[in-house]
Amino acid sequence: MTARQASSSAEDGAPPGRRAHGDLQELFDETIARDQRIEPRDWMPDGYRKTLIRQVAQHAHSEIIGMQPEGEWITRAPSLRRKAILFAKVQDEAGHGLYLYSAAETLGADRADLTQRLIEGRQKYSSIFNYPTPTFADVGVIGWLVDGAAICNQVPLCRSSYGPYARAMVRICKEESFHQRQGYELLMTMTRGTGAQREMVQDAVNRWWWPSLMMFGPPDEDSPNSARSMAWKIKRHSNDELRQRFVDMTVPQAEKLGVNLPDPELRWNEERGRYDFGTPDWAELKRVISGDGPCNAERVARRRAAHEEGAWVREAAAAHAAKRAARQRKGAAA
Ligand SMILES: [Fe+2]
Ligand SMILES: [Fe+2]
Repeated sequence: MTARQASSSAEDGAPPGRRAHGDLQELFDETIARDQRIEPRDWMPDGYRKTLIRQVAQHAHSEIIGMQPEGEWITRAPSLRRKAILFAKVQDEAGHGLYLYSAAETLGADRADLTQRLIEGRQKYSSIFNYPTPTFADVGVIGWLVDGAAICNQVPLCRSSYGPYARAMVRICKEESFHQRQGYELLMTMTRGTGAQREMVQDAVNRWWWPSLMMFGPPDEDSPNSARSMAWKIKRHSNDELRQRFVDMTVPQAEKLGVNLPDPELRWNEERGRYDFGTPDWAELKRVISGDGPCNAERVARRRAAHEEGAWVREAAAAHAAKRAARQRKGAAA
């Protein structure tokens, strides 16, 4: 019997007493232990549901807020080709947000409520999107480093224990790897260009390197919820392990581009077979997460304005749906 069958037989009249609950918990644990997926109608512990809603909502918000820093460059892209690429990329991020809000809805979350929480500052999004994008090189560096870090974080989520989240991640990761490559290609073009372009790229790398490392979250010893998420197989690797993977993947790419990563402690460790690197400024991460980053207020204000300006679209869509439902009812009655 699967957890789903168990929960529907409980709904079908079996006594939902203590014993039934124990059975459901056991089935849930077995499903996780066998590396099988939990699906929306399966019974799941409250903590699992809450943790997932929080994680998936934060992820959805990050995709949507993440449209802003690069979106600012759409009207100023240096060529039609770059404009078309950037447009497509920013639109992909909107799509990622929508898949993820849908995944959150399968857990019983209400999308309007999640948006409300975001614009009231009650729910978070990735700290990385609170940094400014003063030059076009930022577009390339975001693709290379920020989408690159997102891939390191998200590829293991394709095996997350919650089915709708894992399946959304499969598609998202395919698009993220495109994003990463377009960023890298843009930087390749710029570093082969003029001295001023190379400087612009180096400056952007200097500004984004440390915030990208912070995308993996606080160090493991300061990440108290990680162990539980890993036991539930929502999360597959620790923050520090993912950060290390990102560094190991990125250093050779930086060498190929001919840019310096701004970390004097960065060096190959023969014994470990991995790179050693310096410690990010965790006080800065805390500051940015708690709302005091360079662009936090601006990002949330812009999201709020877009939501308010879109109210008429939501009202029109609801009125249209109501009218169509009434017409169908009338047709069925006739
Ligand atoms: Fe994305
Ligand atoms: Fe992306």
